[in-house]
Amino acid sequence: MSKPVVTVVGGGMITNDQILPALYQMQRLGLIGEIQITALNARPLKALADSELFARAFPGQSFRAFPDLSGDLDKPYPELFQEVVAKMPPRNVVVAAVPDQLHFPVIMTALKHNQHVCSVKPLVLKVEQAHEIEREAYARGLVVGVEYHKRFDDRSLLARRRYRSGAFGEFKLGTAALLEKWYYRHSNFQNWCTAENSDAFTYIGCHYVDLVHFITGLLPVSVSLFGVLDKYPNGKDGYLWTDARVLWSNGACLNVQNALGFPDDAPGSNTQGLTMYCAGEDKGSLISHSDQYRGLKYSYVRKDDSPGSTIYAEPSTDYLQYIDLGGKGLVPVGYGYRSVEFIVKAAIRAETEAEGLPEAAALAKRQQVLKEYDEAGVMATPANSSYNELVIEAGRLSIVNGGREAVIEYGDRPRVRLRG
Ligand SMILES: NC(=O)c1ccc[n+]([C@@H]2O[C@H](COP(=O)([O-])OP(=O)(O)OC[C@H]3O[C@@H](n4cnc5c(N)ncnc54)[C@H](O)[C@@H]3O)[C@@H](O)[C@H]2O)c1
Repeated sequence: MSKPVVTVVGGGMITNDQILPALYQMQRLGLIGEIQITALNARPLKALADSELFARAFPGQSFRAFPDLSGDLDKPYPELFQEVVAKMPPRNVVVAAVPDQLHFPVIMTALKHNQHVCSVKPLVLKVEQAHEIEREAYARGLVVGVEYHKRFDDRSLLARRRYRSGAFGEFKLGTAALLEKWYYRHSNFQNWCTAENSDAFTYIGCHYVDLVHFITGLLPVSVSLFGVLDKYPNGKDGYLWTDARVLWSNGACLNVQNALGFPDDAPGSNTQGLTMYCAGEDKGSLISHSDQYRGLKYSYVRKDDSPGSTIYAEPSTDYLQYIDLGGKGLVPVGYGYRSVEFIVKAAIRAETEAEGLPEAAALAKRQQVLKEYDEAGVMATPANSSYNELVIEAGRLSIVNGGREAVIEYGDRPRVRLRG
């Protein structure tokens, strides 16, 4: 596979903000071939196709839309992604960028049609599904990478290297927060991120739980999740404010607060950060990341009309921004780009290493590469990150029980249960 075809399933916010600009940039660099995007209906695809920012940043580049843009933009095609994926040549790449509860059918469809997968977080909502994906992917020698992009923030990678070299001793007590702006409630979220499917912790808290494992290697062993029910503008209920206590395999404790409720008028596109207090033999130590404020203060002469924009802003160049390096277009930079690139390149490498080998030897080679990725632990895979699914299961069990502690039991058949 020299230049894989990449099919994105889902054309919503994450595709607009991160996945498509990253793929366009990779296409411009000659790393991937054609880009296809399929969504429930054509309306979000039309918005992507008409985007002025993409026209400015990626002149002359485009994607194939399924359904195409000539018909009724609102007619739903819930099964269309299956046809589109079935028609792809084998062992190219599918990106799963649909609502959380649809990741599993999209990923299994991709694997059954022999496609490598990049999935936005969380991989799935049940650990058993993560194991099924792991088995299917390994049997076919296919890469599945979970796009926890905070891992590719250099500050996360630096903290991980320093922690693992012993510079901080051992994690004991921490606090993390990620609150998205209030206006998120008005987006398509109100149709799926509702109380019966998800909550603020499941949706965004998983990033910091994943990051604490990524830095320390510790495993989460229990979750108490309290949620405050609130109404979306369409009247649906959502746990839009959550407070979680996550205990870790060494006895450490992390508090995680999440919400769709950060004031729209506040600077920055959200508020977020992580503080970890750690202990050496006879000394305390500290890791503290302010993840929304990266030192920039801008006060504009006028506010643009995009949701959540403010006249005084504190933008971050670290996740994904567009810069002008001369020549045609703009270049997307940041860990949002690097994360997608890392996963797609991992799939390309698995194919390149197996190229030219007889079928059985090629499969064995790809499987060896998968094991290497699992062990390196830089890219989240079903085999090395299914503690995230256990945390989600435990969190969901806890939240519907008013915040009672849900314990995670590892072993041959990991499971969660309320503490008796
Ligand atoms: N920080 C992050 O890592 C981050 C941020 C935002 C979203 N996400 C994740 O990305 C995923 C999508 O979120 P979003 O914000 O883009 O949501 P969204 O609601 O804006 O978009 C969802 C998209 O899925 C499509 N879709 C729904 N059903 C489909 C079907 N049957 N076939 C094909 N397409 C279908 C819709 O048409 C829509 O384009 C979620 O899993 C979310 O958790 C991650």
